[in-house]
Amino acid sequence: MIKQQISFEALVYETIDELNMQQKDLMLKAVEARKMAYAPYSNFHVGAAVLLENGEVVIGNNQENASYPSGLCAERVAIFHAGAKFPGVKILSVAISATSNDYVVDKPAAPCGNCRQAMSEYEVKQKKPIELLMMGEIGKIIKCHSISAILPLAFNSSFLDK
Ligand code: THU
Repeated sequence: MIKQQISFEALVYETIDELNMQQKDLMLKAVEARKMAYAPYSNFHVGAAVLLENGEVVIGNNQENASYPSGLCAERVAIFHAGAKFPGVKILSVAISATSNDYVVDKPAAPCGNCRQAMSEYEVKQKKPIELLMMGEIGKIIKCHSISAILPLAFNSSFLDK
């Protein structure tokens, strides 16, 4: 038996102004995207902005539904939007921001497990890490260098190879 330690590295920025220009611009696009979220049930508005290798930025936001599970998170709307519009173009970075009608979101909004899995698919396929920038409405920003960092031991297509 061996003991394995899987470590997780993240950078924490005190404010959006500590990001470089490209990162800040992407985060501001996520902020704009969250303003167009459809979240009448949770009142929790999430925006995501995806930066592609061709320089394009594609956005998404959460889209809720009266049949709750039929809705979709911002991150998946954004990456599926990117996959639909620019198939095969590599994803460099995803910025996420969240706000609520009910309280001030003062901590970074981390993607849910389903979104991690969905983003991992693209990361594995493109063989290049996807950087993640996570923010609430105010406060700190967390940066991770890849999806795999926040989804260790992921299930992927290699398990389906014969
Ligand atoms: N939500 C996201 O858009 N992204 C996440 O990673 C977590 C949750 C949305 C789903 C739902 O519309 C609302 O936030 C409350 O869960």
